[in-house]
Amino acid sequence: MSLDAGFFDEMYAVADDPWSMRTRWYERRKYDLSTAVLPRRRYGDGLEVGCSVGELTARLAGRCDRLTAWDTSATAVARATARLAGHPGVRVEQASAPATPLPSVDLLVLSEVLYYLDPGDLQTLLGQVRTALRPDGTLLAVHWRHPVPEYPQTGDAVHETLRAGLPWPRVATHEEPDLLLDCWVAAPAADVRAASVAAAEQLW
Ligand SMILES: C[S@@+](CC[C@H](N)C(=O)[O-])C[C@H]1O[C@@H](n2cnc3c(N)ncnc32)[C@H](O)[C@@H]1O
Repeated sequence: MSLDAGFFDEMYAVADDPWSMRTRWYERRKYDLSTAVLPRRRYGDGLEVGCSVGELTARLAGRCDRLTAWDTSATAVARATARLAGHPGVRVEQASAPATPLPSVDLLVLSEVLYYLDPGDLQTLLGQVRTALRPDGTLLAVHWRHPVPEYPQTGDAVHETLRAGLPWPRVATHEEPDLLLDCWVAAPAADVRAASVAAAEQLW
């Protein structure tokens, strides 16, 4: 079963920042990696699913004209809203994937959120991703690899499903003992130029 809002509300009731995203070097470095691989300097419409307290959101805000951040937990939404108050282009909403269908966007960020979905919900979301991402849009997925007993899936299983189910070329894949990161561009799989940052700048 996918984990529901109640699971996360309980975490936010006992900790202000349950994963220490504001303070951990591990998280800061991962956010640097995440934003560094995004192939476009700027995006029109962006969406982050599962924004927690809004730390990654704040970094993504600098790359998007308009950024929507979703979280299933009302407490997380309140904390992210406060964190992002100085970013006029950012809207934080309470919404759960895949129950709320993804809107059409140029940048979709799924960071540390998909292992909370069971395989059926992940497949439903995958179907939404394929239609929601605009042509030439970017999908970034980043996940912790170590098993967590309460989570329906591991990060490795999530990325295996994404790699098998997305018909797009990858801009980047980054693998560490602790995390997997994959970044795709919504283009035909054989279109190597679409996934090349250098090609976008006419370097080849
Ligand atoms: C580990 S935090 C990830 C925060 C941020 N994306 C990052 O990478 O730093 C996961 C967040 O996802 C939210 N979440 C879990 N399942 C969700 C779902 N199905 N839809 C929307 N948000 C979800 C949780 O409430 C939690 O705040």
